[in-house]
Amino acid sequence: MNREMIIVLDFGGQYNQLIARRVRECNVYCEVHPCTMDLEKIKEMAPKGIIFTGGPNSVYKDDSPSCPKEIYELGIPILGICYGSQLMAHQLEGRVETAPVSEYGKTEVEVENHSKLFGDVSPKTICWMSHTDYIAKAPEGFQVTAHTPVCPVAAMERPDKNWYAVQFHPEVMHTQEGMKMLSNFVYKVCGCAGDWKMDSFVETTIQEVREKVGNGRVLCALSGGVDSSVAAVLLAKAVGKQLTCVFVDHGLMRKNEGDEVEAVFGPDGPYDLNFVRVNAQDRFYSKLAGVTDPEQKRKIIGEEFIRVFEEEAKKIGAVDFLVQGTIYPDVIESGLGKSAVIKSHHNVGGLPDHVDFKEIIEPLRLLFKDEVRRAGLELGIPEYLVYRQPFPGPGLGVRIIGEVTAEKVHIVQEADAIYREEVAKAGIDKDLGQYFAALTNMRSVGCMGDGRTYDYAIALRAVLTSDFMTAEAAEIPWEVLSRVTSRIVNEVKGVNRVLYDCTGKPPATIEWE
Ligand code: XMP
Repeated sequence: MNREMIIVLDFGGQYNQLIARRVRECNVYCEVHPCTMDLEKIKEMAPKGIIFTGGPNSVYKDDSPSCPKEIYELGIPILGICYGSQLMAHQLEGRVETAPVSEYGKTEVEVENHSKLFGDVSPKTICWMSHTDYIAKAPEGFQVTAHTPVCPVAAMERPDKNWYAVQFHPEVMHTQEGMKMLSNFVYKVCGCAGDWKMDSFVETTIQEVREKVGNGRVLCALSGGVDSSVAAVLLAKAVGKQLTCVFVDHGLMRKNEGDEVEAVFGPDGPYDLNFVRVNAQDRFYSKLAGVTDPEQKRKIIGEEFIRVFEEEAKKIGAVDFLVQGTIYPDVIESGLGKSAVIKSHHNVGGLPDHVDFKEIIEPLRLLFKDEVRRAGLELGIPEYLVYRQPFPGPGLGVRIIGEVTAEKVHIVQEADAIYREEVAKAGIDKDLGQYFAALTNMRSVGCMGDGRTYDYAIALRAVLTSDFMTAEAAEIPWEVLSRVTSRIVNEVKGVNRVLYDCTGKPPATIEWE
């Protein structure tokens, strides 16, 4: 396909997709590929630029990730970041060593702004450093364009070849002028026109899906959440009635949510979809009976989901593709990249080994949540659906600590409905990334109406986040918390205590399991 693009080569760093996302924010299409990507393939894709990511290794060790040296002969501009900068130095015969002083965190860097990369950047600028090795000597022909008191080569370049390298991370927010640097690379070094927009993503994806699916039949796992709704509407636009959306009510939805989903996507809603609702509550509850381990619960719910889909698929007959609304944070947090497994997100790590479909289509796999929302708006999905707060695939199953029972589901549904109602009434819902009630497995003593109670504690959570990878606890006004607390203990049978979760992510995660 003939579109302007930048390729990010992945050397195992944590921020690889973030780099791609920043480039997309500059209105240039960007994809992440393994560092072992074939040079012929790169030539075929004809990117306007290549970015080498960071990574946890040392370039001078034999088994460290690398790419063929011939990449420098392709005539394509290259920007090396952190490990990527060291790799460039190493491959072009500079010297990389263990730094006498490691640098972590915000660091003041002095830059030469005659460099194209640093045009309009302040001479002293705060950058995010995270390295134990450093470039001790830049390769022949390179100019050093930035340094810190302990890092002699914080940036280097060979403008005649369009090779640039920075020791710090321009892609993270803590690098105050990082976006300017990336934009300089993309526009001034690579000469991009910047005519890519989210609607190009939507159009291109619709086109790609059409080509892939042909006359095949597609089944979409619709939960009513933002991600699967965007995936469903995208697919409906691509293949129309070849698509059937199956909504499995696993009995772990928020209060009244099953009916709300049906109202939007069912026959009386605005979309022309084949819609099937499967009421599978009892089936899920019985599989979950007695299970307390969070990962096991996730796996059971994920597996049961797929089984229900397979059964529905058989009823529809000859289904070739399964569509899922997996987004990027689900992919890395499930440990499918090189990062550690935090939890098996439903849709990804929770998949059983054997899945009875020819192929799985995940059109949103490379997008962050806010990018998915923009795609949703481009698709004409109403704002109230697009800005719905996220809801995890395993639903209340990961908001009930310990064993899941119908009684506990009822308690958390009621408490959560009160919390959401009061937060919306107070007009603070739009300011919060996500907020919900969780049922702790803890019971404590209370006294109500002169009698002793021994009931559950509900935990309220509210976080501020835009990418859901990191989050901080939100400061909900006390009067809202106190109103919610008294309503929950008065109206929800089985609860006598309400707690507020003040933890950020990290160290906690947003969900409780
Ligand atoms: P955590 O709890 O990992 O959540 O900080 C990050 C974001 O992902 C949502 N989440 C999930 N979404 N399937 C999903 O589709 C899952 O299994 C899942 N687990 C967590 C969570 O609600 C938050 O928005």
